[in-house]
Amino acid sequence: MTRLHVHGGDGRLGRAIVLMAKASGAYEVSISGREQKAAEQEAAWDIAIDVSQPQGSLAIAARCAAAGVPLVIGTTGHTVDELDQLRADTARTAILLSPNFSVGVNLLFWLTGKASEILGPEYDAEIVELHHRLKKDSPSGTANRLGEIIAETRSLQFDKAGRHGRKGFSGERTRNEIGVHALRGGDIVGEHTVYFAGSGERIELTHRASSRDTFAKGALRAADWLLGKPAGWYEMRDVLGLA
Ligand SMILES: NC(=O)c1ccc[n+]([C@@H]2O[C@H](COP(=O)([O-])OP(=O)(O)OC[C@H]3O[C@@H](n4cnc5c(N)ncnc54)[C@H](OP(=O)(O)O)[C@@H]3O)[C@@H](O)[C@H]2O)c1
Repeated sequence: MTRLHVHGGDGRLGRAIVLMAKASGAYEVSISGREQKAAEQEAAWDIAIDVSQPQGSLAIAARCAAAGVPLVIGTTGHTVDELDQLRADTARTAILLSPNFSVGVNLLFWLTGKASEILGPEYDAEIVELHHRLKKDSPSGTANRLGEIIAETRSLQFDKAGRHGRKGFSGERTRNEIGVHALRGGDIVGEHTVYFAGSGERIELTHRASSRDTFAKGALRAADWLLGKPAGWYEMRDVLGLA
Protein backbone atom coordinates (compact mmCIF):
# COMPACT_ATOMS: atom_id res chain seq x y z
CA MET A 1 0.00 0.00 0.00
CA THR A 2 1.26 3.47 -0.87
CA ARG A 3 1.22 5.86 2.07
CA LEU A 4 -0.36 8.97 0.53
CA HIS A 5 -0.62 12.34 2.24
CA VAL A 6 -3.09 14.91 0.88
CA HIS A 7 -2.48 18.53 1.91
CA GLY A 8 -5.71 20.50 1.49
CA GLY A 9 -7.39 17.12 1.91
CA ASP A 10 -10.60 18.65 3.25
CA GLY A 11 -11.17 20.96 0.25
CA ARG A 12 -13.31 20.26 -2.83
CA LEU A 13 -10.55 18.63 -4.88
CA GLY A 14 -8.80 17.18 -1.82
CA ARG A 15 -11.94 15.31 -0.76
CA ALA A 16 -12.38 13.88 -4.27
CA ILE A 17 -8.77 12.61 -4.23
CA VAL A 18 -9.11 11.11 -0.74
CA LEU A 19 -12.38 9.35 -1.64
CA MET A 20 -10.95 7.91 -4.85
CA ALA A 21 -7.70 6.84 -3.19
CA LYS A 22 -9.53 5.08 -0.35
CA ALA A 23 -12.00 3.41 -2.73
CA SER A 24 -9.13 1.95 -4.77
CA GLY A 25 -7.73 0.13 -1.75
CA ALA A 26 -4.20 0.91 -2.99
CA TYR A 27 -3.41 3.77 -0.60
CA GLU A 28 -3.19 4.42 3.10
CA VAL A 29 -4.37 8.04 3.24
CA SER A 30 -3.61 10.86 5.69
CA ILE A 31 -4.59 14.50 5.32
CA SER A 32 -3.67 17.96 6.56
CA GLY A 33 -4.85 21.50 5.85
CA ARG A 34 -5.09 24.93 7.37
CA GLU A 35 -7.13 23.68 10.30
CA GLN A 36 -5.86 20.11 10.57
CA LYS A 37 -2.25 19.29 11.45
CA ALA A 38 -0.78 16.10 9.97
CA ALA A 39 -1.01 13.36 12.61
CA GLU A 40 2.27 11.79 11.55
CA GLN A 41 5.58 13.10 10.28
CA GLU A 42 6.76 13.23 6.67
CA ALA A 43 8.81 10.05 7.25
CA ALA A 44 5.50 8.16 7.27
CA TRP A 45 4.56 9.38 3.75
CA ASP A 46 5.64 7.71 0.49
CA ILE A 47 4.17 10.55 -1.57
CA ALA A 48 2.24 13.77 -0.99
CA ILE A 49 -0.32 15.71 -3.04
CA ASP A 50 -0.93 19.41 -2.42
CA VAL A 51 -4.29 20.91 -3.39
CA SER A 52 -4.50 23.86 -1.01
CA GLN A 53 -3.52 27.46 -1.77
CA PRO A 54 -0.12 28.90 -2.79
CA GLN A 55 1.10 29.58 0.78
CA GLY A 56 0.13 26.02 1.68
CA SER A 57 2.14 24.67 -1.28
CA LEU A 58 5.28 26.45 -0.10
CA ALA A 59 4.93 25.07 3.41
CA ILE A 60 4.33 21.46 2.37
CA ALA A 61 7.03 21.62 -0.34
CA ALA A 62 9.62 22.74 2.25
CA ARG A 63 8.65 19.81 4.49
CA CYS A 64 8.70 17.30 1.62
CA ALA A 65 12.06 18.62 0.36
CA ALA A 66 13.63 18.27 3.80
CA ALA A 67 12.35 14.69 4.12
CA GLY A 68 12.91 13.68 0.47
CA VAL A 69 9.21 12.93 -0.06
CA PRO A 70 8.03 13.39 -3.69
CA LEU A 71 5.25 15.93 -4.06
CA VAL A 72 2.51 16.47 -6.65
CA ILE A 73 1.19 20.05 -6.63
CA GLY A 74 -2.19 20.83 -8.18
CA THR A 75 -2.64 24.18 -6.46
CA THR A 76 -2.79 27.18 -8.80
CA GLY A 77 -2.24 30.93 -8.47
CA HIS A 78 1.46 30.96 -7.47
CA THR A 79 3.43 34.15 -8.08
CA VAL A 80 6.71 34.04 -10.00
CA ASP A 81 8.62 34.25 -6.67
CA GLU A 82 6.60 31.40 -5.22
CA LEU A 83 7.31 29.26 -8.30
CA ASP A 84 11.02 30.04 -7.89
CA GLN A 85 10.85 28.81 -4.28
CA LEU A 86 9.19 25.58 -5.42
CA ARG A 87 11.88 25.14 -8.10
CA ALA A 88 14.55 25.53 -5.41
CA ASP A 89 12.95 22.65 -3.48
CA THR A 90 13.39 20.37 -6.50
CA ALA A 91 17.12 20.20 -5.67
CA ARG A 92 16.13 17.88 -2.82
CA THR A 93 13.03 16.04 -3.98
CA ALA A 94 10.86 15.29 -7.03
CA ILE A 95 8.09 17.86 -7.50
CA LEU A 96 5.43 17.64 -10.21
CA LEU A 97 3.39 20.78 -10.73
CA SER A 98 0.28 20.76 -12.86
CA PRO A 99 -2.43 23.42 -13.05
CA ASN A 100 -4.70 20.73 -14.45
CA PHE A 101 -4.55 16.99 -13.90
CA SER A 102 -7.10 16.01 -16.56
CA VAL A 103 -5.87 14.05 -19.57
CA GLY A 104 -8.16 16.09 -21.81
CA VAL A 105 -6.72 19.44 -20.74
CA ASN A 106 -3.17 18.18 -21.19
CA LEU A 107 -4.16 17.16 -24.69
CA LEU A 108 -5.63 20.67 -25.13
CA PHE A 109 -2.22 22.09 -24.11
CA TRP A 110 -0.56 20.00 -26.81
CA LEU A 111 -3.19 20.81 -29.46
CA THR A 112 -2.99 24.52 -28.65
CA GLY A 113 0.78 24.52 -29.16
CA LYS A 114 0.43 22.69 -32.47
CA ALA A 115 -2.41 24.93 -33.69
CA SER A 116 -0.54 28.08 -32.73
CA GLU A 117 2.60 26.88 -34.54
CA ILE A 118 0.67 25.96 -37.69
CA LEU A 119 -1.61 29.01 -37.80
CA GLY A 120 1.02 31.60 -36.88
CA PRO A 121 0.55 35.10 -35.46
CA GLU A 122 -1.91 36.26 -38.13
CA TYR A 123 -4.51 34.22 -36.23
CA ASP A 124 -5.41 36.22 -33.11
CA ALA A 125 -5.36 34.06 -29.97
CA GLU A 126 -7.86 34.62 -27.16
CA ILE A 127 -8.56 32.41 -24.15
CA VAL A 128 -11.84 32.25 -22.25
CA GLU A 129 -12.20 30.30 -19.02
CA LEU A 130 -15.25 29.63 -16.82
CA HIS A 131 -15.22 28.39 -13.21
CA HIS A 132 -17.49 28.15 -10.17
CA ARG A 133 -18.12 31.18 -8.01
CA LEU A 134 -15.90 29.97 -5.15
CA LYS A 135 -12.64 29.86 -7.15
CA LYS A 136 -10.14 32.24 -5.60
CA ASP A 137 -7.50 32.88 -8.30
CA SER A 138 -8.03 34.27 -11.78
CA PRO A 139 -7.35 33.69 -14.52
CA SER A 140 -7.12 29.96 -13.89
CA GLY A 141 -3.71 28.25 -13.81
CA THR A 142 -4.86 26.35 -16.90
CA ALA A 143 -5.64 29.58 -18.80
CA ASN A 144 -2.23 30.95 -17.84
CA ARG A 145 -0.55 27.78 -19.06
CA LEU A 146 -2.45 28.00 -22.37
CA GLY A 147 -1.27 31.60 -22.67
CA GLU A 148 2.34 30.60 -21.99
CA ILE A 149 2.16 27.87 -24.62
CA ILE A 150 0.83 30.28 -27.27
CA ALA A 151 3.40 32.92 -26.26
CA GLU A 152 6.25 30.39 -26.58
CA THR A 153 5.26 29.54 -30.16
CA ARG A 154 5.21 33.28 -31.03
CA SER A 155 8.46 34.24 -29.27
CA LEU A 156 6.49 36.39 -26.83
CA GLN A 157 6.51 36.55 -23.04
CA PHE A 158 3.08 35.83 -21.66
CA ASP A 159 3.50 38.16 -18.66
CA LYS A 160 3.82 41.04 -21.16
CA ALA A 161 1.60 39.72 -24.00
CA GLY A 162 -1.35 38.64 -21.82
CA ARG A 163 -4.29 41.07 -22.17
CA HIS A 164 -6.62 40.47 -19.23
CA GLY A 165 -10.05 41.72 -20.25
CA ARG A 166 -10.80 44.91 -22.19
CA LYS A 167 -12.67 48.01 -21.14
CA GLY A 168 -13.22 51.50 -22.46
CA PHE A 169 -11.27 52.80 -25.45
CA SER A 170 -8.95 49.83 -25.57
CA GLY A 171 -7.72 50.47 -29.12
CA GLU A 172 -7.28 48.09 -32.03
CA ARG A 173 -6.03 44.64 -31.24
CA THR A 174 -2.33 44.11 -31.90
CA ARG A 175 -0.66 40.92 -33.16
CA ASN A 176 1.43 40.77 -29.98
CA GLU A 177 -1.38 40.27 -27.50
CA ILE A 178 -3.05 37.17 -26.13
CA GLY A 179 -6.47 37.94 -24.68
CA VAL A 180 -7.49 36.19 -21.44
CA HIS A 181 -10.99 36.42 -19.99
CA ALA A 182 -12.21 34.84 -16.75
CA LEU A 183 -15.93 34.18 -16.06
CA ARG A 184 -17.15 33.08 -12.62
CA GLY A 185 -20.47 31.61 -11.60
CA GLY A 186 -22.50 28.79 -10.08
CA ASP A 187 -20.93 25.38 -9.84
CA ILE A 188 -19.02 25.22 -13.16
CA VAL A 189 -16.21 22.70 -12.64
CA GLY A 190 -13.96 24.23 -15.30
CA GLU A 191 -14.13 25.16 -18.99
CA HIS A 192 -11.45 26.53 -21.30
CA THR A 193 -11.73 27.67 -24.91
CA VAL A 194 -8.84 28.86 -27.05
CA TYR A 195 -9.87 30.92 -30.07
CA PHE A 196 -7.65 31.40 -33.08
CA ALA A 197 -9.39 34.08 -35.15
CA GLY A 198 -8.09 34.74 -38.65
CA SER A 199 -9.51 36.57 -41.64
CA GLY A 200 -12.53 34.64 -42.90
CA GLU A 201 -12.33 31.81 -40.39
CA ARG A 202 -12.04 30.96 -36.70
CA ILE A 203 -10.93 27.84 -34.87
CA GLU A 204 -12.09 27.07 -31.31
CA LEU A 205 -10.54 24.41 -29.10
CA THR A 206 -12.68 23.70 -26.04
CA HIS A 207 -12.35 21.49 -22.99
CA ARG A 208 -15.19 21.10 -20.48
CA ALA A 209 -14.73 19.30 -17.17
CA SER A 210 -18.00 17.98 -15.77
CA SER A 211 -16.67 16.27 -12.65
CA ARG A 212 -13.82 16.86 -10.20
CA ASP A 213 -13.17 13.11 -10.37
CA THR A 214 -11.30 13.68 -13.63
CA PHE A 215 -8.77 15.82 -11.69
CA ALA A 216 -8.64 13.35 -8.79
CA LYS A 217 -7.91 10.48 -11.16
CA GLY A 218 -5.11 12.47 -12.83
CA ALA A 219 -3.64 13.48 -9.46
CA LEU A 220 -3.38 9.82 -8.39
CA ARG A 221 -1.93 8.84 -11.76
CA ALA A 222 0.70 11.60 -11.35
CA ALA A 223 1.45 10.44 -7.79
CA ASP A 224 1.95 6.81 -8.90
CA TRP A 225 4.23 7.99 -11.71
CA LEU A 226 6.31 10.29 -9.47
CA LEU A 227 7.05 7.61 -6.85
CA GLY A 228 10.74 6.70 -7.02
CA LYS A 229 11.66 9.49 -9.50
CA PRO A 230 14.91 11.38 -8.81
CA ALA A 231 14.82 14.95 -7.44
CA GLY A 232 13.76 17.41 -10.13
CA TRP A 233 10.89 19.31 -11.71
CA TYR A 234 8.19 17.40 -13.56
CA GLU A 235 4.92 18.23 -15.31
CA MET A 236 1.81 16.29 -16.28
CA ARG A 237 3.01 16.07 -19.89
CA ASP A 238 5.88 13.88 -18.62
CA VAL A 239 3.34 11.51 -17.05
CA LEU A 240 1.27 11.35 -20.23
CA GLY A 241 4.20 11.11 -22.64
CA LEU A 242 3.24 14.43 -24.30
CA ALA A 243 6.59 16.16 -23.60
N1 LIG B 1 -4.58 20.75 -10.84
C1 LIG B 1 -5.89 20.54 -11.04
O1 LIG B 1 -6.30 19.69 -11.85
C2 LIG B 1 -6.86 21.35 -10.25
C3 LIG B 1 -8.25 21.15 -10.40
C4 LIG B 1 -9.12 21.88 -9.60
C5 LIG B 1 -8.62 22.80 -8.69
N2 LIG B 1 -7.26 23.01 -8.60
C6 LIG B 1 -6.66 23.92 -7.65
O2 LIG B 1 -6.53 23.24 -6.40
C7 LIG B 1 -6.61 24.20 -5.34
C8 LIG B 1 -7.71 23.78 -4.37
O3 LIG B 1 -8.95 23.86 -5.05
P1 LIG B 1 -10.31 23.51 -4.30
O4 LIG B 1 -11.41 23.83 -5.23
O5 LIG B 1 -10.21 22.14 -3.71
O6 LIG B 1 -10.26 24.61 -3.12
P2 LIG B 1 -10.88 24.53 -1.66
O7 LIG B 1 -12.16 23.77 -1.68
O8 LIG B 1 -10.86 25.94 -1.15
O9 LIG B 1 -9.84 23.64 -0.84
C9 LIG B 1 -8.58 24.08 -0.43
C10 LIG B 1 -8.23 23.36 0.86
O10 LIG B 1 -6.92 23.77 1.27
C11 LIG B 1 -6.96 24.34 2.57
N3 LIG B 1 -5.99 25.45 2.67
C12 LIG B 1 -6.14 26.72 2.22
N4 LIG B 1 -5.02 27.44 2.50
C13 LIG B 1 -4.18 26.59 3.12
C14 LIG B 1 -2.86 26.74 3.66
N5 LIG B 1 -2.20 27.90 3.60
N6 LIG B 1 -2.30 25.65 4.26
C15 LIG B 1 -2.95 24.47 4.32
N7 LIG B 1 -4.20 24.26 3.82
C16 LIG B 1 -4.80 25.32 3.23
C17 LIG B 1 -8.39 24.83 2.74
O11 LIG B 1 -8.69 24.96 4.11
P3 LIG B 1 -9.80 26.06 4.55
O12 LIG B 1 -11.11 25.50 4.07
O13 LIG B 1 -9.63 26.11 6.03
O14 LIG B 1 -9.44 27.35 3.85
C18 LIG B 1 -9.17 23.73 2.02
O15 LIG B 1 -9.34 22.60 2.85
C19 LIG B 1 -6.86 25.55 -6.02
O16 LIG B 1 -5.61 26.21 -6.18
C20 LIG B 1 -7.45 25.17 -7.36
O17 LIG B 1 -7.25 26.15 -8.36
C21 LIG B 1 -6.40 22.29 -9.36
